[in-house]
Amino acid sequence: MNSREIRQKYLDFFRKRGHAVIHSAPIIPENDPTTLFTSSGMQPLVPYLLGQPHPLGKRLVNSQKSFRAEDIEEVGDNRHTTFFEMLGNWSLGDYFKQEQLPWFFDYLTKVVGLNPNRIYVSAFSGDHELGIGRDDESIKIWQEIFGRENMDAKVVEIITEENGGDNGMQGGRIFTYNANKNWWSRSGTPDKMPVGEIGGPDSELFYEFTHIEHNAKFGKHCHPNCDCGRFIEIGNSVFIQYKKTVNGFDELPQRNVDFGGGLERITAASENRADVFQTDLFLPTIHEIERVSGKKYEENAYAMRVIADHLRGVIFMASAGIQASNTDQGYILRRLLRRAVRYADTLSLPNGALHLLVTTSIRPFENVYNELSEKHGAIQHLIQEEEAKFRTTLARGMKHFEELTGDTISGQDAFVLFTTYGFPIEVTQELAKEKRMTVDLLAYETAMKNHQALSRAGAEQKFKGGLADNSEATVRYHTAHHLLLKALQIVLGPNVHQRGSNITAERLRIDFVSPHKMTDDEKRQIEEIVNNKIKECLPVSSTVMKKEEAETYGAEHEFNADYPEMVSVYSVGPKDATPENPKIKDAFSVEFCGGPHVKNTKELNGTFKIIKEEAVAAGIRRIKAVIE
Ligand code: ALA
Repeated sequence: MNSREIRQKYLDFFRKRGHAVIHSAPIIPENDPTTLFTSSGMQPLVPYLLGQPHPLGKRLVNSQKSFRAEDIEEVGDNRHTTFFEMLGNWSLGDYFKQEQLPWFFDYLTKVVGLNPNRIYVSAFSGDHELGIGRDDESIKIWQEIFGRENMDAKVVEIITEENGGDNGMQGGRIFTYNANKNWWSRSGTPDKMPVGEIGGPDSELFYEFTHIEHNAKFGKHCHPNCDCGRFIEIGNSVFIQYKKTVNGFDELPQRNVDFGGGLERITAASENRADVFQTDLFLPTIHEIERVSGKKYEENAYAMRVIADHLRGVIFMASAGIQASNTDQGYILRRLLRRAVRYADTLSLPNGALHLLVTTSIRPFENVYNELSEKHGAIQHLIQEEEAKFRTTLARGMKHFEELTGDTISGQDAFVLFTTYGFPIEVTQELAKEKRMTVDLLAYETAMKNHQALSRAGAEQKFKGGLADNSEATVRYHTAHHLLLKALQIVLGPNVHQRGSNITAERLRIDFVSPHKMTDDEKRQIEEIVNNKIKECLPVSSTVMKKEEAETYGAEHEFNADYPEMVSVYSVGPKDATPENPKIKDAFSVEFCGGPHVKNTKELNGTFKIIKEEAVAAGIRRIKAVIE
């Protein structure tokens, strides 16, 4: 089955089981300023996993465009990609393990046609310290599922990842692992979760590619979580039922299922090819690279995979409006593209070859993500320009690099290679490796942090963790953000619309369309409006309604968002609004928004102040503001 059929049949399968199909959220999250990218399907759904009713009900399904910047260096093997599509289904306090596990198994075996004998699963082994026991419920359900197939389903415990390689398969079908492997949250294992974060034990499903021999480099014996590539994880059912507290974990008011499966990997399994780059999602580009370079994939798999993956990442980011830059998402785009240029050179692809690969890269998404073909020309242009820009300094940078001697490239040299010649750190590291040198990463990072214009350490943190911060401080800024947008429209005119936002516990930032620099008087007026609304102690209401109805209130749209029929709207004011009667018609501000927000503007508890106003692009201004 090709990727199109796999995606469509997954959505159909769960639709038949009562799930509403939701759009993929944008790959650049609009209302989760603590992370640069949407990296899993559950991210935009956190408020609903916490208990807020979702407008479309308790069963949802989609295919989510996802990006994991932390995987950049993993790319090159048979299964890792930066951009990927995550097939996802959710139970928001509705069904649980007894439905989820057999459904996914049936989808794989009966719809996709995978061989049950190649399927292995895992479950949480339990943790005394957390007071959370072994996931016997999942184990029992898996035994029933395999039993129906007349298969033995021996349970094997793998004590730790490290010694997993020592005892290996032992004839097992169901494997238990500790929290390092069988626990999921946006921030990883239980100890890494901040207070308030949600997560739970999970059960992964692996497909065995029997033609891949175990590689002893990864451990003495193979087992499902071994990284040799024989077993590939193709889906993960997370049972989100806990919330981290100061002392440990509390049960959430509802037990949720958060399932995610990699479209690329399931497609590879359906073709019994242990290589996602050999599926229809990548093959058109791989063939084109082979044709233009005159080289064979088999002998150049690593470089061709990096190029094909990185271009796809760049294309999806560019289609969401990201331009190459030295900060945030723009910096990741730049790193991907420049790394692709380097690998294009190793294959002796002609200069400018990369932008010609856009056509083949977007072909698998025709009629799926129309924004790609709509922006085809602009994306090509961006890639062409950025490649040309890098090439103006690449040769000089290489010359500088060649002059470096010794075993180690100092932080300062790596820093100069980046700031003067535009070498992303990965490029410097790879060049160093070729010369058997290492890079003093720590010193490089320190140099970067000290560099004023690039003091973007915060952003580095963000794409590593990808954690929506619902702390009180952030929530205050979220509400202040709504007040500010309305105040901007009052003072600068109704055509002011948001083009981007970013909120931390310390400040808020908004990018908006406006042709001119603000005057001091305008800034003062805006601050005054926001501060008056704080003083007026206005109630904040959230209401679920038809999209059309929200539009009649002039509700402000999130930039770049797709809306379902039913939407959630946040309104601020009027003074006598109540949850039963939010009086949206008389509200000060109305926005399409998933929240969370304070209940009353008095909780903002301080004085709103604009600390910076500047241009970020032609016709786009940026404001940073704080509450003091
Ligand atoms: N959210 C889970 C994951 O990303 C399904 O693996």
